[in-house]
Amino acid sequence: MSPLIDRFGRKHTYLRISVTDRCNLSCLYCMPEEGMKFMDQGRLLTYPQIAEVVRTAAELGISKLRITGGEPLVRPDLEELIVQLKAIPGIQEISLTTNGILLGPQAAKLKAAGLDRVNISLDTLDATRFKFIARRGDLGKVLEGVQAAAEAGLAPIKLNCVLLKGVNEDEIVRFLRLSQEQPLHVRFIEYMPIGHDDAGWRERYLPLSRVLEEAANAGLTVDPAGEAPAGSGPSENFRIRGGVGTFGLIHPVSNHFCSNCNRLRLTAEGDLKPCLYWVDELSVRPALGSSEAMRALFLRAMAIKPENHEMGALLAGEAQSHLPTGRRMSQIGG
Ligand code: 5AD
Ligand code: SF4
Repeated sequence: MSPLIDRFGRKHTYLRISVTDRCNLSCLYCMPEEGMKFMDQGRLLTYPQIAEVVRTAAELGISKLRITGGEPLVRPDLEELIVQLKAIPGIQEISLTTNGILLGPQAAKLKAAGLDRVNISLDTLDATRFKFIARRGDLGKVLEGVQAAAEAGLAPIKLNCVLLKGVNEDEIVRFLRLSQEQPLHVRFIEYMPIGHDDAGWRERYLPLSRVLEEAANAGLTVDPAGEAPAGSGPSENFRIRGGVGTFGLIHPVSNHFCSNCNRLRLTAEGDLKPCLYWVDELSVRPALGSSEAMRALFLRAMAIKPENHEMGALLAGEAQSHLPTGRRMSQIGG
């Protein structure tokens, strides 16, 4: 079967699957202050429908899956989906991005179902600040989730830390030291204007050059990480000299990595998104029941995939060449 290659020669092997737009937190970079209107549960793709989409995707060369949300662990019986997906020929790896709140009690069950790895969102190590960023929830639960993931062998564990100017930039060194002391991979991520290009984004956006400056100011020696941890994707990886863990920089705004993009996204209601940033999507629903139609849909996604996003141009106040998505991050899955 011909692999998924787009107009720019990029081969696609990675599908991110959002299983719900719901979340038990409401992080300020992901949702608006007034909250989100969640979709009717009846509009979600069912697990057998997701598995059907993935069967065709795997025939076309997708080998890596990531389950996202909203918060994927709020969807009941997620392990049943993982069992189904893991059994599909060609699927080699399944990972999960979670906020960690519900991970403690579920980590072992998810591992047993076939989950390979987790990325856990952790933007602060301060409990009060956690409530400010996530607007609810409890840092202690997330830390229990990290611990449970380690005990369950969901390794290497990655911590996603979205840096926000004036909010958590003073914790950069603390996170760097965490990566030095523990076998964790800390990923610093630039705040992206997904579904919102507003004053709040401009005020809080922080370029990741700041991380290396902070490391130098703290007298930490940074080395390139010899071997990137599995599934590092667009992250540039480093290690504090002598450290047991690593850290990565994901800088879509200041320096995009679109030329290496290998990913497609599926929203919880069944829209295939060739790119995180732009409005274009293709519903898989009309293709359910026909593997031929599903194949054609994936090939169409390749035909319409744009060369790059324009978050950098947006920051510079330049006009956009096309229409950005109106979806917030919780409705795409990151
Ligand atoms: N910019 C950057 N990262 C974001 N995430 C959610 N919204 C944004 C945003 N606007 C992160 C979450 C999670 C991952 C899926 O994406 O923290 O770790
Ligand atoms: Fe790929 Fe779009 Fe992400 Fe760029 S923004 S890396 S083109 S998905």
